Amino acid sequence: MTDVLDQEVFRYSSDAQPQLLVEDVPLSKLADEFGTPLYVYSKRQIVENFQAFNATLKASGKEHYVSYALKANSNIELLRILAVEGAGADVVSAGELLVALAAGFSPDKITFDGTGKTDAEIELALRANIHAFNVESLEELTVINDIATRLSLRAKISIRVNPNVDAKSHPYISTGLKENKFGIDMAEAREAFLYAAAHPAIEVVGIHVHIGSQITSLDPFIKAARSTVKFVNSLRVKSGIVLEHLNFGGGQGIHYRNVVRHPQLPPDELGEEGEYVPSLSEFVGAVLPILDQTGLKIIFEPGRAIVANSCALLATVLYTKANSVKHFVITDTGMTELIRPCLYDAYHQVVPLKLTPPPLEGAGRGVVSPSQKVDIVGPICETSDFLAQGREMTPLKRGDRLAVLCAGAYGYTLASNYNLRPRAAEVLVDGDTYRVIRARETIEAVAGVSESVITPASAQ
Ligand code: LLP
Repeated sequence: MTDVLDQEVFRYSSDAQPQLLVEDVPLSKLADEFGTPLYVYSKRQIVENFQAFNATLKASGKEHYVSYALKANSNIELLRILAVEGAGADVVSAGELLVALAAGFSPDKITFDGTGKTDAEIELALRANIHAFNVESLEELTVINDIATRLSLRAKISIRVNPNVDAKSHPYISTGLKENKFGIDMAEAREAFLYAAAHPAIEVVGIHVHIGSQITSLDPFIKAARSTVKFVNSLRVKSGIVLEHLNFGGGQGIHYRNVVRHPQLPPDELGEEGEYVPSLSEFVGAVLPILDQTGLKIIFEPGRAIVANSCALLATVLYTKANSVKHFVITDTGMTELIRPCLYDAYHQVVPLKLTPPPLEGAGRGVVSPSQKVDIVGPICETSDFLAQGREMTPLKRGDRLAVLCAGAYGYTLASNYNLRPRAAEVLVDGDTYRVIRARETIEAVAGVSESVITPASAQ
């Protein structure tokens, strides 16, 4: 028997007509049974990602914890998996707070982020007795103090500092520069901590820093860690403010290229190595020794690194067409299911669920079928509705099925009903079993009408 743990979660079967599997289930079977677009998640991948992060931290021997950022994916069934694993939860709205509590996260491991918390959200989080608010402005501090006073409660808070570090990620997902709306400038942070400490209904417990997302170099993390540690130590020495924790945020980049490999797939345009992404142990090895100089409990808030590579978004080719400059593959899936390519020019590997068999005679096995550059687009009425542009693909035809890989983070959570499209279903695979963890929305519900509005053709 094959050692299942040695196998990649998403891989092609080794028969003559290779087909893409997730754990032990062929993805085409799921596409046939549930239709497309369809988000398919692997439980094993989520658990492995979380445990890898946690184990690297535990190895440091200190009391650190991983708080999963729900904004990446807030499906309650996926959250239950992480809650059972002992993760904390980083939430950014009342909805995320409620689903985190319902999924079983312990309130003392819930942090609440966001530049624009409403009074109702603050009250809800205070009543839930969460671990800490990550506060973004002085005005927010006074509002939290007022609401806590009214409720006769004390609010535990961290102050989010802005270290003015360039995350070198896409500008739309960089958050640690002065011109970004996030956090309080390092230069004003001491004053903010003193101001917070002077409020009777506020207990200052931590400091928070998050510089951006899909960060693929260590340098920005190291810079942010150094400046935060310097600040924390001087806050203690000069102002006598002693914190309990340092929340270093999320942002760890992942590999989006060469996620699935097969000799019959056209090579990635960047080659075998793809893009450089530091490994988890490189990341932890680089920042933890710096952060540990504070002696504080360290919290990380990864989202993408926990869920992104656990999901393939399945699509069906509806049409193909070419003009004098381009070949288009038009699918039933687009920016409504995955807006990342449109919004951030993000790369997602797209692969066929079934590979065409290589020529048996003459040319020899393993020969790559001729491929061509295509734009893989969706059905939505926007030019920005693409999943991939200028992508080398083996020939595709109507009815072929595709997997868009690493769609688990910021896929469903950024999905929309644009063009009155129902949100797709989500399926969770565990070994050779699977189940729907969120049903496809119905057209009638999304349109807010019933099918009875159609007058039968015969009655006209
Ligand atoms: N903590 C805070 C305060 C955050 O704002 C975020 C993400 C995270 C943690 C988790 O970051 P991660 O580990 O997932 O990088 N929609 C974009 C990403 C936006 C990230 C927003 N904040 C995308 O699809 O790339």
